[in-house]
Amino acid sequence: MVVIRGATTVGHDDKESIQSGVGELLEQIVSRNSLLRDEILSIVFSSTSDIHSYYPAKAAREAGFSGCSLFSAQEPDIEGGLPLCIRVMLFVEKDLTPHHVYLHEATSLRKDIVGVYNIAIDGPAGSGKSTVARALAHDYHICYLDTGAMYRACALAAVGAGVDVEDEVAVSELMHNVKLEVVYEADVQRTILNGKDVSEEIRRPEVSMAASAISKHPSVRMRMVEKQREIAARMSCVLDGRDIGTFVLPDAEFKFFLTARPEVRAKRRYDELTAKGNKVDLKALQEEILRRDKQDSTRAVAPLRMAEDAVLVDTSDMTVDEVLAYIKHAIQEKI
Ligand code: DC
Repeated sequence: MVVIRGATTVGHDDKESIQSGVGELLEQIVSRNSLLRDEILSIVFSSTSDIHSYYPAKAAREAGFSGCSLFSAQEPDIEGGLPLCIRVMLFVEKDLTPHHVYLHEATSLRKDIVGVYNIAIDGPAGSGKSTVARALAHDYHICYLDTGAMYRACALAAVGAGVDVEDEVAVSELMHNVKLEVVYEADVQRTILNGKDVSEEIRRPEVSMAASAISKHPSVRMRMVEKQREIAARMSCVLDGRDIGTFVLPDAEFKFFLTARPEVRAKRRYDELTAKGNKVDLKALQEEILRRDKQDSTRAVAPLRMAEDAVLVDTSDMTVDEVLAYIKHAIQEKI
């Protein structure tokens, strides 16, 4: 038998906060330890005395942890102790090296355990990055940051203002008037440009080439990179892009570089765009992808390149599930 420990803090002493805090903590413990729920023998909670609105054990049962014995108790007050804190111990019938999980303010309880971690997924257009990154973020209950969307929004701003994306001086001027926000609605990234949600517009094929062109200017890159680093420092994320493992987060805990044969990548983009009702020519798409590859990998600042410590995955002949399983296995091997 193995004991896995964890703790989290909740925003408020109310039923909803306790339910979501307990649900998140248990889901993270399960996914980071690759547990099946029926391998859990019992779960014991203790919470600080400022939590009385709801039983963590009841919240666990409601989150689907009902096949094991559950127990919660209250801790005595300790001066200087962390407020609104729920601790947990899971007794598990499995031979594994436990990964203890500390979330939110509770990360301060265990300096030896990294609270925030990042997964970098780089690669060229159509290599499958965004599908895989989104699924990983969903399964690990962390954030997905699509960095390409940020460059696409800058390109859209330039096109809308009639600015030539090749003109470094004009682009640099334009960037002073670009207010870009990345927000999450029901875990889905929305890209807000000067107050307007442009998440759909930036996917238009003509924006792709402009995004590639505008992203080579240092005035654009440094602003976007600063934003990306700030988000990644605040919360665990899967980031997909071209330069995450090499430049944005050279110390990311996990790095992958996805690639695929150009014709496979073009076909994927073709299917994606036609499914959304866009009329596109497969051959033209393949040519555009190759031009974009060249532009992205030959620029002077932070070009598309595989980090030396990244794991290379050629997704040409793999299904999404196979890529996901491969990446998750590589992550498990490393932790
Ligand atoms: O991933 P995407 O196709 O949405 O990216 C659009 C363009 O943005 C891409 O051709 C190059 C640029 N980009 C970049 O330079 N660095 C990133 N981290 C992400 C995208």
